[in-house]
Amino acid sequence: MQPTRRDLLALLAATAAGSVAGAGLAGPVRAAEPSLADAAAAAGLLYGASIASDTLADTAQAALYRRECSILTVDYALKFGWLRPAADRFEPGGADAILAFAGKVPVRGHTLAWNESRPDWLMAMSTAEKRKALDHHIDETVAYYAGRLHSWDVVNEPFWPGHGLPGGYRDGPWMEAFGEGYVERAFRRAHAADPNVPLVLNEAMTERWDEYGAPIRSGLLGLVDRLQDAGVRLDAVGLQGHLLPAHPYDDNAFADFVAELATRKIDIYITELDVDDASFPADIASRDAAVAARYRDFLGAVLAVPAVKIVITWQLADSSSWYYHGELEQHPGASRLPRPLPFDDRLMPKPARDAMLSAFDRRRA
Ligand code: XIL
Repeated sequence: MQPTRRDLLALLAATAAGSVAGAGLAGPVRAAEPSLADAAAAAGLLYGASIASDTLADTAQAALYRRECSILTVDYALKFGWLRPAADRFEPGGADAILAFAGKVPVRGHTLAWNESRPDWLMAMSTAEKRKALDHHIDETVAYYAGRLHSWDVVNEPFWPGHGLPGGYRDGPWMEAFGEGYVERAFRRAHAADPNVPLVLNEAMTERWDEYGAPIRSGLLGLVDRLQDAGVRLDAVGLQGHLLPAHPYDDNAFADFVAELATRKIDIYITELDVDDASFPADIASRDAAVAARYRDFLGAVLAVPAVKIVITWQLADSSSWYYHGELEQHPGASRLPRPLPFDDRLMPKPARDAMLSAFDRRRA
Protein backbone atom coordinates (compact mmCIF):
# COMPACT_ATOMS: atom_id res chain seq x y z
CA MET A 1 0.00 0.00 0.00
CA GLN A 2 1.27 3.48 -0.78
CA PRO A 3 1.84 5.52 2.38
CA THR A 4 -0.03 8.79 2.58
CA ARG A 5 1.79 12.09 2.67
CA ARG A 6 0.82 12.33 6.36
CA ASP A 7 2.41 8.93 7.12
CA LEU A 8 5.57 10.03 5.41
CA LEU A 9 5.73 13.35 7.23
CA ALA A 10 5.24 11.56 10.56
CA LEU A 11 7.96 9.13 9.62
CA LEU A 12 10.37 11.88 8.61
CA ALA A 13 9.77 13.58 11.95
CA ALA A 14 10.34 10.29 13.82
CA THR A 15 13.53 9.61 11.87
CA ALA A 16 14.85 13.10 12.46
CA ALA A 17 14.16 12.66 16.19
CA GLY A 18 16.20 9.47 16.15
CA SER A 19 13.38 7.17 17.26
CA VAL A 20 13.80 4.81 14.32
CA ALA A 21 17.55 4.70 14.75
CA GLY A 22 17.11 4.05 18.45
CA ALA A 23 14.79 1.07 18.03
CA GLY A 24 15.94 -2.23 19.52
CA LEU A 25 17.31 -5.20 17.57
CA ALA A 26 14.75 -7.40 15.93
CA GLY A 27 14.63 -11.18 16.25
CA PRO A 28 17.10 -13.36 18.12
CA VAL A 29 20.17 -12.33 16.13
CA ARG A 30 22.49 -11.59 19.01
CA ALA A 31 24.34 -8.31 18.96
CA ALA A 32 27.65 -10.21 19.26
CA GLU A 33 27.09 -12.10 16.01
CA PRO A 34 28.38 -10.56 12.84
CA SER A 35 25.64 -9.01 10.73
CA LEU A 36 25.42 -9.75 7.01
CA ALA A 37 26.87 -6.27 6.46
CA ASP A 38 29.86 -7.06 8.75
CA ALA A 39 30.56 -10.39 7.03
CA ALA A 40 30.24 -8.75 3.62
CA ALA A 41 32.62 -5.93 4.62
CA ALA A 42 35.26 -8.45 5.68
CA ALA A 43 35.02 -9.86 2.14
CA GLY A 44 35.31 -6.45 0.48
CA LEU A 45 31.59 -6.31 -0.28
CA LEU A 46 28.55 -4.25 0.57
CA TYR A 47 25.44 -6.24 1.51
CA GLY A 48 21.99 -4.74 1.61
CA ALA A 49 18.34 -5.09 0.69
CA SER A 50 15.64 -3.18 -1.10
CA ILE A 51 13.27 -1.32 1.17
CA ALA A 52 9.73 -0.15 0.54
CA SER A 53 8.55 3.18 1.91
CA ASP A 54 5.84 1.52 4.00
CA THR A 55 8.35 -0.83 5.69
CA LEU A 56 9.86 2.18 7.45
CA ALA A 57 6.84 2.40 9.74
CA ASP A 58 7.49 -1.16 11.02
CA THR A 59 9.97 -0.39 13.79
CA ALA A 60 11.20 -3.95 14.26
CA GLN A 61 11.81 -4.46 10.58
CA ALA A 62 13.42 -1.06 10.21
CA ALA A 63 15.81 -2.00 13.04
CA LEU A 64 16.66 -5.25 11.25
CA TYR A 65 17.58 -3.26 8.12
CA ARG A 66 19.78 -1.03 10.24
CA ARG A 67 21.57 -4.00 11.73
CA GLU A 68 22.04 -6.15 8.64
CA CYS A 69 22.52 -3.73 5.72
CA SER A 70 25.36 -1.49 4.59
CA ILE A 71 23.46 -0.40 1.47
CA LEU A 72 19.77 -0.04 0.55
CA THR A 73 17.83 0.10 -2.71
CA VAL A 74 14.61 2.08 -3.03
CA ASP A 75 12.15 -0.73 -3.82
CA TYR A 76 9.40 0.95 -5.84
CA ALA A 77 9.14 4.60 -4.77
CA LEU A 78 11.38 5.89 -7.58
CA LYS A 79 9.69 4.01 -10.40
CA PHE A 80 8.22 6.29 -13.03
CA GLY A 81 4.58 5.51 -12.24
CA TRP A 82 5.02 5.92 -8.46
CA LEU A 83 7.02 9.12 -8.72
CA ARG A 84 4.66 10.55 -11.33
CA PRO A 85 1.05 9.49 -10.67
CA ALA A 86 -0.05 12.11 -13.22
CA ALA A 87 1.72 14.07 -15.95
CA ASP A 88 1.97 17.20 -13.84
CA ARG A 89 2.81 15.57 -10.49
CA PHE A 90 6.23 14.72 -9.00
CA GLU A 91 5.95 12.90 -5.66
CA PRO A 92 9.35 12.04 -4.19
CA GLY A 93 8.05 11.70 -0.59
CA GLY A 94 8.41 7.91 -0.42
CA ALA A 95 12.01 7.89 -1.59
CA ASP A 96 12.84 10.96 0.51
CA ALA A 97 11.64 9.09 3.61
CA ILE A 98 13.93 6.17 2.73
CA LEU A 99 16.89 8.54 2.33
CA ALA A 100 16.10 10.19 5.67
CA PHE A 101 15.92 6.76 7.32
CA ALA A 102 19.18 5.64 5.70
CA GLY A 103 21.21 8.56 7.02
CA LYS A 104 24.82 7.78 6.05
CA VAL A 105 24.00 4.33 4.65
CA PRO A 106 24.26 4.54 0.84
CA VAL A 107 21.01 4.22 -1.12
CA ARG A 108 20.63 3.00 -4.71
CA GLY A 109 18.14 4.66 -7.05
CA HIS A 110 15.91 2.22 -8.91
CA THR A 111 15.09 3.00 -11.72
CA LEU A 112 14.92 5.76 -14.37
CA ALA A 113 13.95 4.06 -17.65
CA TRP A 114 12.03 0.80 -17.34
CA ASN A 115 9.56 -0.17 -20.03
CA GLU A 116 7.35 -1.96 -17.46
CA SER A 117 6.55 1.18 -15.43
CA ARG A 118 3.95 2.65 -17.72
CA PRO A 119 1.11 4.61 -16.14
CA ASP A 120 -2.03 5.07 -18.24
CA TRP A 121 -1.45 8.80 -18.59
CA LEU A 122 1.90 8.10 -20.27
CA MET A 123 0.52 5.44 -22.60
CA ALA A 124 -2.18 7.87 -23.74
CA MET A 125 0.49 10.30 -25.01
CA SER A 126 1.76 10.76 -28.55
CA THR A 127 5.26 9.62 -29.46
CA ALA A 128 6.57 13.19 -29.33
CA GLU A 129 5.05 13.66 -25.85
CA LYS A 130 6.53 10.38 -24.62
CA ARG A 131 9.96 11.53 -25.77
CA LYS A 132 9.60 14.76 -23.84
CA ALA A 133 8.30 12.84 -20.82
CA LEU A 134 11.39 10.62 -20.60
CA ASP A 135 13.80 13.51 -21.06
CA HIS A 136 12.00 15.60 -18.46
CA HIS A 137 11.73 12.67 -16.05
CA ILE A 138 15.46 11.97 -16.13
CA ASP A 139 16.51 15.64 -16.00
CA GLU A 140 14.24 16.47 -13.07
CA THR A 141 14.66 13.27 -11.05
CA VAL A 142 18.44 12.97 -11.33
CA ALA A 143 18.92 16.66 -10.55
CA TYR A 144 16.56 16.40 -7.54
CA TYR A 145 18.62 13.52 -6.08
CA ALA A 146 22.05 14.82 -7.17
CA GLY A 147 24.68 14.07 -4.54
CA ARG A 148 22.33 11.90 -2.47
CA LEU A 149 22.42 8.45 -4.12
CA HIS A 150 25.05 5.71 -4.26
CA SER A 151 24.16 4.96 -7.89
CA TRP A 152 21.26 4.96 -10.35
CA ASP A 153 19.82 1.98 -12.20
CA VAL A 154 19.49 4.12 -15.32
CA VAL A 155 17.91 1.43 -17.49
CA ASN A 156 16.17 -1.61 -16.06
CA GLU A 157 15.56 -4.84 -17.98
CA PRO A 158 16.42 -3.66 -21.50
CA PHE A 159 15.95 -7.14 -23.01
CA TRP A 160 12.99 -9.45 -23.31
CA PRO A 161 13.29 -11.53 -26.49
CA GLY A 162 9.73 -12.79 -25.97
CA HIS A 163 8.48 -9.44 -27.30
CA GLY A 164 9.89 -10.34 -30.73
CA LEU A 165 11.61 -6.99 -31.37
CA PRO A 166 14.88 -6.79 -33.35
CA GLY A 167 17.87 -7.17 -31.04
CA GLY A 168 15.70 -8.81 -28.38
CA TYR A 169 14.75 -5.50 -26.73
CA ARG A 170 11.87 -5.25 -24.26
CA ASP A 171 8.89 -3.40 -25.68
CA GLY A 172 7.20 -0.50 -23.92
CA PRO A 173 6.82 3.29 -24.00
CA TRP A 174 10.51 4.16 -24.22
CA MET A 175 11.16 1.65 -27.01
CA GLU A 176 8.12 3.01 -28.85
CA ALA A 177 9.32 6.58 -28.41
CA PHE A 178 13.00 6.22 -29.30
CA GLY A 179 13.73 2.65 -30.40
CA GLU A 180 16.78 1.04 -28.78
CA GLY A 181 18.46 4.47 -28.70
CA TYR A 182 16.47 5.19 -25.51
CA VAL A 183 19.19 3.34 -23.58
CA GLU A 184 22.08 5.55 -24.65
CA ARG A 185 19.90 8.65 -24.40
CA ALA A 186 18.92 7.82 -20.81
CA PHE A 187 22.55 7.34 -19.78
CA ARG A 188 23.67 10.57 -21.44
CA ARG A 189 20.92 12.65 -19.84
CA ALA A 190 21.47 11.11 -16.39
CA HIS A 191 25.18 11.92 -16.64
CA ALA A 192 24.43 15.49 -17.70
CA ALA A 193 22.01 16.00 -14.79
CA ASP A 194 24.54 14.68 -12.21
CA PRO A 195 28.06 14.13 -13.55
CA ASN A 196 29.15 12.44 -10.31
CA VAL A 197 26.55 9.74 -9.71
CA PRO A 198 27.61 6.22 -10.78
CA LEU A 199 25.40 4.83 -13.56
CA VAL A 200 24.23 1.22 -13.75
CA LEU A 201 22.59 -0.96 -16.40
CA ASN A 202 20.36 -3.51 -14.60
CA GLU A 203 19.10 -6.75 -16.14
CA ALA A 204 16.96 -9.76 -15.22
CA MET A 205 17.15 -13.46 -16.05
CA THR A 206 20.83 -13.55 -17.06
CA GLU A 207 21.36 -16.30 -14.46
CA ARG A 208 19.04 -18.78 -16.17
CA TRP A 209 20.87 -21.42 -18.17
CA ASP A 210 18.22 -22.01 -20.78
CA GLU A 211 16.72 -20.47 -23.91
CA TYR A 212 15.52 -17.47 -21.88
CA GLY A 213 18.85 -16.57 -20.27
CA ALA A 214 21.12 -17.09 -23.30
CA PRO A 215 19.84 -14.30 -25.61
CA ILE A 216 19.60 -11.86 -22.69
CA ARG A 217 23.24 -12.51 -21.75
CA SER A 218 24.47 -12.00 -25.32
CA GLY A 219 22.24 -8.95 -25.78
CA LEU A 220 23.61 -7.41 -22.60
CA LEU A 221 27.26 -7.99 -23.54
CA GLY A 222 26.64 -6.37 -26.93
CA LEU A 223 24.85 -3.41 -25.36
CA VAL A 224 27.67 -2.80 -22.87
CA ASP A 225 30.16 -2.82 -25.76
CA ARG A 226 28.07 -0.38 -27.82
CA LEU A 227 27.63 2.01 -24.88
CA GLN A 228 31.36 1.94 -24.14
CA ASP A 229 32.25 2.39 -27.83
CA ALA A 230 29.97 5.43 -27.86
CA GLY A 231 31.84 6.88 -24.86
CA VAL A 232 28.85 6.68 -22.52
CA ARG A 233 29.50 6.63 -18.76
CA LEU A 234 28.77 3.15 -17.42
CA ASP A 235 30.05 2.25 -13.95
CA ALA A 236 28.45 -1.10 -13.28
CA VAL A 237 26.14 -3.78 -14.58
CA GLY A 238 23.48 -4.97 -12.17
CA LEU A 239 22.43 -8.60 -12.42
CA GLN A 240 19.15 -9.04 -10.58
CA GLY A 241 19.42 -12.63 -9.36
CA HIS A 242 15.74 -13.49 -8.93
CA LEU A 243 16.51 -17.23 -8.89
CA LEU A 244 13.68 -19.51 -10.08
CA PRO A 245 14.88 -23.04 -9.23
CA ALA A 246 12.12 -24.70 -11.28
CA HIS A 247 14.29 -23.76 -14.29
CA PRO A 248 17.85 -24.82 -15.26
CA TYR A 249 20.89 -23.05 -13.80
CA ASP A 250 24.63 -23.56 -14.12
CA ASP A 251 26.17 -21.32 -11.49
CA ASN A 252 29.77 -21.87 -12.61
CA ALA A 253 28.98 -21.12 -16.24
CA PHE A 254 27.12 -18.02 -15.05
CA ALA A 255 30.20 -16.95 -13.06
CA ASP A 256 32.20 -17.25 -16.31
CA PHE A 257 29.69 -14.87 -17.94
CA VAL A 258 30.10 -12.44 -15.03
CA ALA A 259 33.89 -12.63 -15.44
CA GLU A 260 33.46 -11.93 -19.18
CA LEU A 261 31.35 -8.84 -18.37
CA ALA A 262 33.98 -7.72 -15.88
CA THR A 263 36.65 -7.65 -18.62
CA ARG A 264 34.81 -4.46 -19.75
CA LYS A 265 36.31 -2.73 -16.68
CA ILE A 266 33.00 -2.24 -14.92
CA ASP A 267 31.84 -3.33 -11.48
CA ILE A 268 29.19 -6.00 -11.11
CA TYR A 269 26.37 -5.67 -8.59
CA ILE A 270 23.98 -8.48 -7.69
CA THR A 271 20.99 -6.20 -7.31
CA GLU A 272 17.82 -8.17 -6.52
CA LEU A 273 18.74 -11.58 -5.14
CA ASP A 274 15.99 -13.89 -3.86
CA VAL A 275 14.98 -17.53 -4.30
CA ASP A 276 11.50 -18.49 -5.51
CA ASP A 277 10.66 -21.52 -3.34
CA ALA A 278 7.50 -22.54 -5.23
CA SER A 279 9.10 -25.72 -6.61
CA PHE A 280 10.50 -26.81 -3.21
CA PRO A 281 8.80 -29.09 -0.63
CA ALA A 282 5.99 -27.63 1.51
CA ASP A 283 7.69 -28.75 4.74
CA ILE A 284 9.35 -25.64 6.11
CA ALA A 285 12.63 -27.16 7.29
CA SER A 286 13.18 -28.88 3.90
CA ARG A 287 12.13 -25.76 2.02
CA ASP A 288 14.43 -23.47 4.01
CA ALA A 289 17.32 -25.90 3.47
CA ALA A 290 16.70 -25.95 -0.29
CA VAL A 291 16.53 -22.13 -0.43
CA ALA A 292 19.75 -21.90 1.60
CA ALA A 293 21.47 -24.33 -0.79
CA ARG A 294 20.58 -22.06 -3.72
CA TYR A 295 22.07 -19.04 -1.92
CA ARG A 296 25.18 -21.10 -1.09
CA ASP A 297 25.75 -22.39 -4.63
CA PHE A 298 24.90 -19.16 -6.44
CA LEU A 299 26.97 -16.88 -4.20
CA GLY A 300 29.77 -19.44 -3.97
CA ALA A 301 30.20 -19.26 -7.74
CA VAL A 302 29.58 -15.58 -8.35
CA LEU A 303 31.61 -14.16 -5.45
CA ALA A 304 34.72 -15.79 -6.93
CA VAL A 305 34.66 -12.94 -9.47
CA PRO A 306 36.49 -9.98 -7.86
CA ALA A 307 34.47 -7.41 -9.86
CA VAL A 308 31.37 -8.33 -7.84
CA LYS A 309 31.26 -5.55 -5.26
CA ILE A 310 27.70 -5.54 -3.94
CA VAL A 311 25.07 -8.14 -3.04
CA ILE A 312 21.53 -6.89 -2.49
CA THR A 313 18.51 -9.05 -1.73
CA TRP A 314 15.07 -7.97 -2.93
CA GLN A 315 13.73 -7.10 0.52
CA LEU A 316 15.16 -8.59 3.73
CA ALA A 317 12.38 -10.57 5.45
CA ASP A 318 9.91 -12.97 3.84
CA SER A 319 6.84 -10.99 4.94
CA SER A 320 7.99 -8.01 2.86
CA SER A 321 8.93 -10.02 -0.21
CA TRP A 322 7.20 -9.16 -3.47
CA TYR A 323 6.52 -12.92 -3.79
CA TYR A 324 4.82 -13.01 -0.37
CA HIS A 325 2.62 -10.00 -1.18
CA GLY A 326 1.90 -11.39 -4.64
CA GLU A 327 0.78 -14.73 -3.21
CA LEU A 328 -1.51 -13.08 -0.65
CA GLU A 329 -3.03 -10.90 -3.35
CA GLN A 330 -3.70 -13.87 -5.62
CA HIS A 331 -4.77 -16.29 -2.87
CA PRO A 332 -5.95 -14.40 0.22
CA GLY A 333 -5.62 -16.70 3.25
CA ALA A 334 -3.10 -18.97 1.48
CA SER A 335 -1.53 -21.39 3.96
CA ARG A 336 1.76 -21.84 2.09
CA LEU A 337 3.54 -18.50 1.86
CA PRO A 338 6.85 -17.86 0.06
CA ARG A 339 10.10 -17.99 2.09
CA PRO A 340 12.63 -16.48 -0.36
CA LEU A 341 14.82 -14.34 1.95
CA PRO A 342 17.37 -14.50 4.81
CA PHE A 343 14.77 -13.65 7.51
CA ASP A 344 11.31 -15.13 8.00
CA ASP A 345 7.96 -13.43 8.54
CA ARG A 346 8.67 -13.09 12.29
CA LEU A 347 12.05 -11.54 11.45
CA MET A 348 13.91 -14.66 12.64
CA PRO A 349 17.15 -15.56 10.82
CA LYS A 350 16.89 -18.54 8.46
CA PRO A 351 19.38 -21.05 7.02
CA ALA A 352 19.60 -18.76 3.98
CA ARG A 353 21.25 -16.16 6.21
CA ASP A 354 23.82 -18.71 7.42
CA ALA A 355 24.50 -19.68 3.80
CA MET A 356 25.12 -16.03 2.93
CA LEU A 357 27.42 -15.52 5.92
CA SER A 358 29.43 -18.61 4.86
CA ALA A 359 29.62 -17.44 1.24
CA PHE A 360 30.92 -14.04 2.40
CA ASP A 361 33.46 -15.79 4.68
CA ARG A 362 34.66 -18.00 1.82
CA ARG A 363 35.22 -14.97 -0.41
CA ARG A 364 37.42 -13.47 2.33
CA ALA A 365 39.52 -16.66 2.56
C1 XIL B 1 8.86 -5.25 -7.83
C2 XIL B 1 8.49 -4.54 -6.53
O1 XIL B 1 9.21 -5.08 -5.45
C3 XIL B 1 7.01 -4.67 -6.29
O2 XIL B 1 6.64 -3.88 -5.16
C4 XIL B 1 6.24 -4.22 -7.52
O3 XIL B 1 4.91 -4.47 -7.34
C5 XIL B 1 6.70 -4.95 -8.77
O4 XIL B 1 8.08 -4.77 -8.91
N1 XIL B 1 12.55 -6.70 -11.07
C6 XIL B 1 12.73 -5.37 -10.77
C7 XIL B 1 11.99 -4.77 -9.64
O5 XIL B 1 13.59 -4.70 -11.37
O6 XIL B 1 11.70 -3.41 -9.88
C8 XIL B 1 10.72 -5.52 -9.31
O7 XIL B 1 10.20 -4.98 -8.12
C9 XIL B 1 11.01 -6.99 -9.18
C10 XIL B 1 11.55 -7.54 -10.48
